[in-house]
Amino acid sequence: MKKKTVVLGITGSIAAYKAADLASRLVKQGLDVDVVMTAAAQQFINPLTLQAITHRPVVTAMFTLHSAMAVEHIALAERAALLLIAPATANIIAKIAHGFADDMLSSTALATRAPIVIAPAMNTQMYENTVTQANIAKLEERGMTFVGPGEGRLACGTSGRGRLTELDEIMQAALLALNPRQDLLGKKVVITAGGTEEPIDPVRFITNRSSGKMGYALAKAAVARGATVDLISAPTSLPAPVGINLVPVRTAKEMHAAVLKHTLGCDALIMAAAVADYTVADPAIHKIKKSGEKLVLELSRTTDILGTVQGNFLKIGFAAESRDLVFHAREKLEQKDLDLIIANDITAPGSGFNVDTNQVTLLHRFGQSEALPLMTKEALAHIILDRVKALWP
Ligand code: CTP
Repeated sequence: MKKKTVVLGITGSIAAYKAADLASRLVKQGLDVDVVMTAAAQQFINPLTLQAITHRPVVTAMFTLHSAMAVEHIALAERAALLLIAPATANIIAKIAHGFADDMLSSTALATRAPIVIAPAMNTQMYENTVTQANIAKLEERGMTFVGPGEGRLACGTSGRGRLTELDEIMQAALLALNPRQDLLGKKVVITAGGTEEPIDPVRFITNRSSGKMGYALAKAAVARGATVDLISAPTSLPAPVGINLVPVRTAKEMHAAVLKHTLGCDALIMAAAVADYTVADPAIHKIKKSGEKLVLELSRTTDILGTVQGNFLKIGFAAESRDLVFHAREKLEQKDLDLIIANDITAPGSGFNVDTNQVTLLHRFGQSEALPLMTKEALAHIILDRVKALWP
């Protein structure tokens, strides 16, 4: 079988030396590795090192007259089964986000149809800068995968987020991009996400602290594994994941209607949304003007979507609790007749709302409980899908 080619892009970060180890690991996986180095990267590591490891010429410039491998400027882009950029500076991320093609690496990124995996490495402030964050969000929206950065001591002497993440993690993302798992092919999964908004008047509403991150992570993981996904989402600030059918809703009532419609013929419903239990009984048509010392709002119960929806599909819920986690979660599992419930203690550090990690206990219908360690919402999404898959007849 023809070997797959990974184009490994290396940019000018102090972590560039780690790319040598990465190249070696890729070669050991039986992959052809074509290295492209930016001019800045060559200040940190010698192309000869990469050439020796990969046994292939290293591309260091876009136009070379008598190059051993006269590289036509999009040849690499066409040959690549994967473009892996590690380490990736803020600069290359910005260039790719804006379609620049002024060197071999950015041109390859613009021209390739292969999946792109990016492992950023930069100073914390540069990483946290809203410009960099917006560029990353834009590229994620276009389907590129980001791994890391990790947290720790940085070359500039400070400590924070921005280190090139562990090579094991980069390898895992690269191999997954090369050989996507398609174990959910043919399955239709409906996922809800975000916190519903219940209007008080045309400008005000009642909502909660749900960011939607868990539901979006589930949607992305399910699509990556071949499922058809309808993501019924209350308002969030997250970009729409590529390849899913996004169904935007606002209120609990709208979410209920969307769930009834989209679960027809589905194989599983995963309710990660934080649905309002109460809505404003009679929202004002016009903006409420202030008057008097007190304002009383009358609230009425919403429908328990998960507890009432019927159909021949698996029902998976979430329970966010601040005390007696397992007790309350099991009660919900039984009351709502669920196959699985994901219980998280919202008071635990790194768990719950608006963080990228989660620590949960999975409770199954027939009594088993599984306490999982703290992990990224993405990793948790895959574990939840593994359990759902095991429950399908
Ligand atoms: N849920 C739902 N419809 C609602 C409320 C919640 O489908 N009207 C779903 C959530 O998406 C979640 C699970 O039910 O999967 C949460 O259970 P629930 O008992 O409603 O949790 P809380 O709202 O936190 O309940 P309580 O306030 O009683 O703890």
